[in-house]
Amino acid sequence: MSYAGNALEILFGVLMLHSGFAQNEPSIESTDHMILPTGSQSTPITLQCNLTASQSKHYESFWMKNGEEIPETRGNDKNTEYKLNKPRPENSGEYMCVYTFDSAPAANATIEVKAAPDITGHKRSENKNEGERAVLFCKSVGYPYPTWSWRKLDNGGSMDIYNSSSRFFISSKDGYTELSILDLNITSDPGEYECNATNFLGSNAKISVLRVRSHLAPLWPLLGVLAEIIILVLIIVIYEKRKKPDDVPDGEFKRVGYSFNIDY
Ligand SMILES: *[C@@H]1O[C@H](CO)[C@@H](O)[C@H](O)[C@H]1NC(C)=O
Ligand SMILES: *[C@@H]1O[C@H](CO)[C@@H](O)[C@H](O)[C@H]1NC(C)=O
Ligand SMILES: *[C@@H]1O[C@H](CO)[C@@H](O)[C@H](O)[C@H]1NC(C)=O
Ligand SMILES: *[C@@H]1O[C@H](CO)[C@@H](O)[C@H](O)[C@H]1NC(C)=O
Ligand SMILES: *[C@@H]1O[C@H](CO)[C@@H](O)[C@H](O)[C@H]1NC(C)=O
Repeated sequence: MSYAGNALEILFGVLMLHSGFAQNEPSIESTDHMILPTGSQSTPITLQCNLTASQSKHYESFWMKNGEEIPETRGNDKNTEYKLNKPRPENSGEYMCVYTFDSAPAANATIEVKAAPDITGHKRSENKNEGERAVLFCKSVGYPYPTWSWRKLDNGGSMDIYNSSSRFFISSKDGYTELSILDLNITSDPGEYECNATNFLGSNAKISVLRVRSHLAPLWPLLGVLAEIIILVLIIVIYEKRKKPDDVPDGEFKRVGYSFNIDY
């Protein structure tokens, strides 16, 4: 008797625990993770979340992408949708529906929309003087965020560049990478640099051209002006010397005034 009673008690307790658990934790049914098809044809995609159970009165729902709220997605329905009309790689990312409640913590569900990386922006060329610092960058769309790498292309071959190796520094975060080259060397640094973004769905690469000028380069315009002044002075001197025998009497004063005016 008492044995059966105990068993019943335990069973009852387990049931209570289960229902209590189910009531405390809101449950959300959501669309499965997906991979965006590559290629031009794109059919609309609808992301759905259905709030199927919650203890507290439901208050509001909204959508987020990569940790930021998507504007104008707030609503009061238990079933909420977010539509991607023309899904492209830039629409890939981590989507999340969030439900807030009157008197309970918010609940959420995550839907990953995955796509191969596509590099959508990069520095096409960089022109610097030797000794200066060059900065190249690439940015990508696609999810999961790619693993980034940089290499220098040399007559058909290539050389991987590693972070913090001598004058090379790479800093990458999510869909962005930056290569800094310090103290530019005019012999070894000019050339083509390639950034490469790779995730499990594919990869993409883009090339930047780095040109390095001699540190004398900024002086050239100045040297040009100097040369011009010297030539002008020579012309004036020659002209004055030729004129001299003709008008000796009042030429002296004119010549002095002339040479002071030209002195800029
Ligand atoms: C959400 O509910 C709607 C309507 O009942 C249903 O058509 C849809 O399949 C549900 N979505 C998910 C992800 O369960
Ligand atoms: C989503 O839910 C998880 C687990 O409940 C929580 O840790 C996280 O902070 C929530 N995120 C947002 C943005 O509400
Ligand atoms: C590269 O090295 C620097 C310092 O040595 C470090 O701060 C940075 O996080 C590194 N970057 C990467 C992509 O590992
Ligand atoms: C530039 O690189 C070349 C070849 O690697 C090297 O011989 C030279 O010493 C470097 N110049 C400077 C100023 O470091
Ligand atoms: C990017 O680098 C990976 C690993 O080295 C390589 O397999 C892939 O072909 C490269 N992608 C491009 C577009 O060059």
